[in-house]
Order: sequence, then structure tokens, then C-alpha cells
Amino acid sequence: MAGRKARDRQFKSFDLGRIWCEAIELDDGTRLLLRPIQPRDADTLRRSFKTLTPHDVRMRFMHPLKEITPEYARRLTEIDPDQALALVLVEAKPPEEALIAAVARTAVDDNGEEAEFAIIVGPEIRGRGLGRYLMEKLIEWGRQRGLRTIYGFILEENQPMLGLADSLGFEIGPCDEDMGVVLARLTLE
Ligand SMILES: CC(C)(COP(=O)(O)OP(=O)(O)OC[C@H]1O[C@@H](n2cnc3c(N)ncnc32)[C@H](O)[C@@H]1OP(=O)(O)O)[C@@H](O)C(=O)NCCC(=O)NCCS
Repeated sequence: MAGRKARDRQFKSFDLGRIWCEAIELDDGTRLLLRPIQPRDADTLRRSFKTLTPHDVRMRFMHPLKEITPEYARRLTEIDPDQALALVLVEAKPPEEALIAAVARTAVDDNGEEAEFAIIVGPEIRGRGLGRYLMEKLIEWGRQRGLRTIYGFILEENQPMLGLADSLGFEIGPCDEDMGVVLARLTLE
């Protein structure tokens, strides 16, 4: 099934003239801003985390996580742009109300050749092609940097992510370290 054609996207994107920044409008009229994460997103990230179900949290973090502590939020939002890309989809609402509706991140390993990815798209905006779109952005970033591969760990029960990875051409294989986890790897060369 690798490389199969994606369903039509259920959103439009508008370039905002800054790298990795776009306005997104879903077919139901919902508006979102796509942009790199910033240190000032830390509190919003913590608030947004609270809207996730335990199942979503386990799929994304691979283990139960009760909250994002301020220190963890700091690490998730203070990104070295030379080593990592973390994109967020933020609701187009006043800042005190706006939640982060999706996060897709990738960071280069110490070997400088590979990058690990992780992604979460909030339940209210799933199934419209945004997960694929965000993954394509991470892959584009990896290609621009001349990386050899991009990879991620996925729980073997996580059919949505396995389907997404497969359709993007990732090879899915066993993970040596963890039972119940598979490794999805895409060669970028
Ligand atoms: C996995 C996830 C990111 C997909 O996001 P999404 O925005 O719903 O994905 P898209 O709408 O772009 O769908 C892309 C592809 O993913 C697969 N997919 C998405 N939802 C699926 C589902 N419920 N069942 C099976 N495949 C699914 C399909 O291959 C789909 O392609 P198609 O639309 O052409 O059929 C999202 O479900 C999520 O955040 N899950 C919880 C966190 C998580 O699992 N993160 C992964 C950790 S690495």
C-alpha cells in the first residue's frame, strides 16, 4: 500500500510569507494557524494537553502521562531550529482561549543523519488530511537538511498512525528495544 494516493484534503492552506507559517481553513470553516512552536506556547501546551484522552496520550507518548510539567513544557517549546522542527496548529481565537490543536515534531539525532518524529492531531480535527500534511512538512524539513532518514516509534495497536506512515512510504519493522512497539523509517535520499 506504500505511496497510495491520499484522500482529498478537507482544508485549504494559505501561505503567510514566513517559513513554516500558513493559515489553514478547514472545510467546516474552522481556522487554524500553522507555525513553529515558540517558548511562549508553554502554558497553552499544558492547557491543551488536558483536553486529550488517556488513549491519545498513550498513543503519542507511549506511556501514561498525567500532565505536562512546566519544566517538560519548557523543553517541548524551546527548540533549537538548527536541530529540530516543531510545528503547531493553533486555533485562530484570542490568545487566552486558543488551544494547540496539533503538534508535529522532529529532532536530529547526535549522529546528525537521522531524525525522530512524533505527532498528535487533536480528535476534533482528525481525518481531514492534517496529520498527513504535517508529516509531509517534517519530511520536507528533513530533506532540506540532507538527512538520511526520518523515523518514529509507533505502538503496534496504533492503526491510524501505522496507516499514515505506510501511506507516506515508511517501512514498518520491529523495534529491538520495546515489545509492542514498531519502528517506522523513511529513507530521504
Ligand atoms: C495518527 C494521527 C496523527 C492521524 O492524524 P489525522 O489528521 O487524523 O490523519 P489524516 O487525516 O491526515 O489521515 C492520513 C492517513 O492516516 C491513516 N488514518 C488516519 N486515521 C485513521 C484511522 N482512524 N484508521 C486507520 N487509518 C487512519 C490513513 O492512512 C489516512 O489516509 P487516508 O485519509 O488517505 O485514508 C492522529 O490519529 C493522532 O494524533 N492520533 C493520536 C496520537 C498518535 O497516535 N500519534 C502518533 C505517535 S508517533
